[in-house]
Amino acid sequence: MNLVNSYIDSMFSKQDAFLEKVISSIQENGMPSISVSPSSGKLLTMLVSISGAKSVLEIGALGGYSGICLARGFGKEGKLTSLELEEKYAKLAHSNLSKAGFDDQVSYITGPALQSLEQLVDDHKRFDFFFIDADKENYENYLKYCIELAKPGALIVTDNVLAGGSVANSGAKPKRYTELMKKFNATVANHSQLESLLIPIGDGMTISKVKK
Ligand SMILES: C[S@@+](CC[C@H](N)C(=O)[O-])C[C@H]1O[C@@H](n2cnc3c(N)ncnc32)[C@H](O)[C@@H]1O
Repeated sequence: MNLVNSYIDSMFSKQDAFLEKVISSIQENGMPSISVSPSSGKLLTMLVSISGAKSVLEIGALGGYSGICLARGFGKEGKLTSLELEEKYAKLAHSNLSKAGFDDQVSYITGPALQSLEQLVDDHKRFDFFFIDADKENYENYLKYCIELAKPGALIVTDNVLAGGSVANSGAKPKRYTELMKKFNATVANHSQLESLLIPIGDGMTISKVKK
C-alpha cells in the first residue's frame, strides 16, 4: 500500500517548490505534519477543476496545504471557505494562501467546525465542493452538514478513510480512528443521497456526489 503510493507520488505528483515551503512553514511553526499527501493534493486540484466547482468548503485547514490545492482547482474565479479550530493554524493557512495568490478568495472561520457549520446553515450558504479533513469523531456529523449545505450534484471528499489500510486488513495495526472510519465508509457507501467511491490515494479518500 505504501509502496504503491510512493510510486504514484514519485511518478505523478512530485512536490512543487511552493508546497515544499508550505510544509516547511508548518514544521517551523511547531505544527503537526499531517497535511494531505502530494497525490491527494493533486487529486483535490483535479476534482475541483474537472467538476467546475467555484464555491468550496474545507473542514480542517492546518497550514493551508490542501487549501492551496483546492484553490488551484478553481483558479481566479472561485471562493474557499475554510473551518479551523486553532486561530494560529488559520493565520498560517491564510498567510500561505495569500502567498499563493488567493488572498481575496479565501476566508477562515475559526472555532469548532460544528458551530461554524450551524452558522453557515443559518446563513443559507450553499457550496458545490466539500473537503472533510478534521477530527475523525465528527466525520458523520460533518457529512450531514455538508449534505445540508450542498448544491445539487456537489462533491464531498473525505480524507483518511483507509486509516493506514487498517479498515481493510485485520492484520494491520489498528489506528485510533479505524473503527470510526469503518463506520463512516459504511454510511457513505449506503447513503441514499450519495453516490460514492473510495480512492486508495494517500490515506484513502472517499468521493461522494450528492444526488438531490
Ligand atoms: C489533518 S489536519 C488538516 C490538514 C489540511 N486539510 C491539509 O491537508 O493541509 C486537521 C485539522 O483539523 C483541525 N481540527 C480538529 N478538530 C477540529 C474541530 N473540531 N473544528 C475545526 N477544526 C478542527 C485541526 O486543528 C487540524 O488543523
